Amino acid sequence: MSEVNIKNIRNYLKTNILNNNTFIGREDERKEIFDLIQKTVQHGESNSALVVGPRGSGKTALIEDVLTELQKSQTFNNDAILVKLHGLIHTDDSLALRSITSQMKLDNAVDGKVFGSFAENLAYLLACLRAGEKHTSKCVIFILEEFDLFCAHHNQTLLYNLFDISQSAQTPICVLGITCRLDVIELLEKRVKSRFSHRQYFLYPCKEDCDYISRLEHTLTKIEYYLSLPEDMKFKINSTLKKQWNKTLKGLLADKKFRAVIQRLVDIDLNERTLKNILNLEIISMISGAGSRNQKEYQFFKLLVTSKQISDALKKYVGLPTEVVQWANSSLV
Ligand SMILES: Nc1ncnc2c1ncn2[C@@H]1O[C@H](COP(=O)(O)OP(=O)(O)OP(=O)(O)O)[C@@H](O)[C@H]1O
Ligand SMILES: [Mg+2]
Repeated sequence: MSEVNIKNIRNYLKTNILNNNTFIGREDERKEIFDLIQKTVQHGESNSALVVGPRGSGKTALIEDVLTELQKSQTFNNDAILVKLHGLIHTDDSLALRSITSQMKLDNAVDGKVFGSFAENLAYLLACLRAGEKHTSKCVIFILEEFDLFCAHHNQTLLYNLFDISQSAQTPICVLGITCRLDVIELLEKRVKSRFSHRQYFLYPCKEDCDYISRLEHTLTKIEYYLSLPEDMKFKINSTLKKQWNKTLKGLLADKKFRAVIQRLVDIDLNERTLKNILNLEIISMISGAGSRNQKEYQFFKLLVTSKQISDALKKYVGLPTEVVQWANSSLV
């Protein structure tokens, strides 16, 4: 295979693995969450729910997929406001409130106003959404990533207020918390817990993953999905090569030794994220020599680009710090 072909194939596969946002499976949970948000947008019903699952199980991917579909509709874009908060970024309620204000584009409306309490401030923001009429209001979809971290905030004021609003018939809001802690409900204070709907979606390994044999098959299908080259590919790779690549891939997937390795990975715990990382590292090493001069035992990380890509980039960027240039010259092949 020529250098150019390798480069093209690698580029395509890397993009397919890293940027492929197609969500596979979990139809039931997907539909329920979709309906839940849709109810808030179309019928003004307030809701709250938690999406719980282990790290890398696809919680964020699932919500993003649902939101992407919702955003295709004009009703959603006109009637709903999306507010995303993250437990690691919004570490206290005042930071969260500031972000809510700016995501609702209400910075100007609150400018210079003094509020007696958090609740008053939030109520003011939501009241701003009622466009003149008392009975019509835009709805707000709150997505709280790393939901468990919000439970550590002082008095759980934000959660208390959000859940309280979701239970009253004021502004329609939908509060979706995302967390990997199974015991998350136990972290809620009593008065907060009593206002939560107790609707929870658990992203356990999906049904097709449950039994032993089909888990392997399921993973092999995913590997094929990520690594095969489609006919209508944008990159210029001749069709004989494509066919040959796909045939070799099929052969590999049927190979006993390969299946044994994958079986072992599946037994240990193979979530989508680990699978993608493993595949990605394999794709990167299609040209041997990436960082080969680095001492292996001190390799804290693996480069996801080849030495050649780095030196090409160095030539393009003028004015780089000399340390970077020196590092590249001394450490890369
Ligand atoms: N069902 C799926 N279909 C396609 N890709 C998936 C699926 N589930 C997970 N992924 C992919 O796996 C990776 C990890 O998923 P994601 O970030 O959503 O996990 P998470 O549950 O939010 O993890 P964390 O708890 O660390 O935030 C992402 O690259 C995502 O695209
Ligand atoms: Mg996530």
